[in-house]
Amino acid sequence: MTPRIIPVDLFDLVVFGATGDLSQRKLLPALFHRDLQGQIPPESRIIGSSRRPFSNDEFKDFARASLEAHVDESERHADVMARFIDRLSYVAADAAQDDGWMELEKSLQPGLDRIRVFYLAVGPDLFGPICEKLGTHKLVTPQSRVVIEKPLGKSGASAHALNESISRVFSEPQIYRIDHYLGKETVQNLMALRFANALFEPVWNSAHIDHVQITVSETLGVEGRAGYYDTAGALRDMVQNHMLQLLCLVAMEPPTSTAADALRDEKLKVLKALAPITGDAVANLSVRGQYRAGAANGGAVKGYLEELGSNTSKTETFVALKAEIRNWRWSGVPFYLRTGKRLPSRVSEIVVTFKPIPHSVFEPSAGPIAPNRLVIRLQPDEGVKLWLMIKDPGPGGMRLSHVPLDMSFADAFNVRNPDAYERLIMDVVRGSQALFMRRDEVEAAWAWIDPVLDAWAASSELPKAYTSGTWGPSAAVALIERDGRTWYEDQDL
Ligand code: BG6
Repeated sequence: MTPRIIPVDLFDLVVFGATGDLSQRKLLPALFHRDLQGQIPPESRIIGSSRRPFSNDEFKDFARASLEAHVDESERHADVMARFIDRLSYVAADAAQDDGWMELEKSLQPGLDRIRVFYLAVGPDLFGPICEKLGTHKLVTPQSRVVIEKPLGKSGASAHALNESISRVFSEPQIYRIDHYLGKETVQNLMALRFANALFEPVWNSAHIDHVQITVSETLGVEGRAGYYDTAGALRDMVQNHMLQLLCLVAMEPPTSTAADALRDEKLKVLKALAPITGDAVANLSVRGQYRAGAANGGAVKGYLEELGSNTSKTETFVALKAEIRNWRWSGVPFYLRTGKRLPSRVSEIVVTFKPIPHSVFEPSAGPIAPNRLVIRLQPDEGVKLWLMIKDPGPGGMRLSHVPLDMSFADAFNVRNPDAYERLIMDVVRGSQALFMRRDEVEAAWAWIDPVLDAWAASSELPKAYTSGTWGPSAAVALIERDGRTWYEDQDL
C-alpha cells in the first residue's frame, strides 16, 4: 500500500535545543523522513538554535551525523540528504540573555506570512523564558505556533504556572502540547476501531465489559536519563500523560467529530470522572516498585539505585493502579494500569475483557468458556486480537478452545509505520490540534495524580523491590488478583 502524502503549506521551523538528544534522535530524523516523502515545501527552512556557539556548517555536520545514526542507510538518498541539509541554518541564542535573538529574527526574513513553528526541545524551566524572548523580540506572528513536551510540570500547581507563562505570549490555539503516544499509528486506530465500526460501540459499557487493562512495559532501565528520571518516576513519566491519554481514548463518549475540541472535550470529561485516589485508598489502589539487579535484555543488569549512584532514592520505576471512572458507561468497571522499566518484554497494549456468557449450553466435557477479550497492541507488532471461543476442529465431540482472531497491521498493510513525531510535526504545521493536549486536560490529569504523589511522599514506605526481568512487585499481581482477575499475558511474548 502506498502512503498518501497530504502537502503542507510553506513553513519555517525553529528548533530550540537543536543540539540536544530529542532533536538528534527524533526531530531531525522525523523531518528528514517527511522531506524524503516529498511533504516539505521546497522553500521551507529549519533553523536550529541552542546556547552552543555553532556555525551553520557545524550544525549541518551535526545534523548529518544525527541522520547517519538514526535513519536507515537505504533511506539516506544523496539528493534528499543534500536538499535537507541545505534547509538548515543555526543561530546561537540564550534564553537568559539578549544575544542571538536579533539574528534569529533576521534568519526568519523574509517570511512574515509563513507558518512559523517554534519547537521547544528544551527543559521546562526554559519554556517561559524562551516564550518571553520570542514575545519581546516580536518573533510571534499570527501564523506562529509553539510546541512543548513533557514534563509539563511536576504537579498540578507547577503545570498551571508553566501554562500561565506560555499563555502570556501564545494563545491556546497556538500551543501544541505533545504526548508522543497520541501520534502512534495504533493509538489512532483505536479511534477507528471504536467509531468506524458498528460492532463494538453497543457493547462498550459496564453491561458487557468486565474490566480494562492498560500495560506499557519496557525492558530498558533509565539508561543515561537517571538525573531526570529520579525527579519524575513512573507515575509522572508515563501515567500522568501517555497512560491517561490511552485510558481517555478507550473510555470517552463518541465525539461529534474528530475536530480537536470535540475530541478534547470528551477526553476531559473522562479525566474529570476519574474517582480520586486519596488518603488510605492510595495504599489499596496503587503499587509502586523499584527494580533491583537481575536479567533483562538478554544479560545481567544493574539495579536502579546502582545506576543512579545513590541508595536513598524513593523514586518508583514501576507503578500499578486501579482506576475507576464514575459515569453511567463505566460504573463498576475497573481500569487496571501498569507500567515499568526492566520488565520482561517491551509491550504497550490495551486489553478489554468482556463479561462471561450468562449461561452455558455445553456439557462440562466441552471445557471452560473463557470470556472474550479484545487486545489492542500499540507496540511492537501493532495489531488487534479478538479472543473468541470456537469448537476444536475435527471429531471427538464438542470441545471448546479460546483462540485469537489476529490482525497484525504489518502483515495486513505493507507500509512503513511513520514515527509519531513525523505525524505530529506535520499536524502542527497544518494547524491540527486533535492529537495534542489542551491545557485543561493536562491540569485535570494532574489533579488526579497529585493526591497519589502526595500520599507516597508522606508515607515512610519505600517502593517495593522487584528483580529486573520480572513483571514488577508481587503486590502488583495481588492488586488485580484480589479482585479475581489476572494480568493478561500474551503467549507470543
Ligand atoms: C517517554 C518516557 O515519554 O516515553 C520514557 O519519558 C519512556 O521514560 C518513553 O521510555 C516510552 O516511549 P515509547 O514510544 O518507546 O513507548
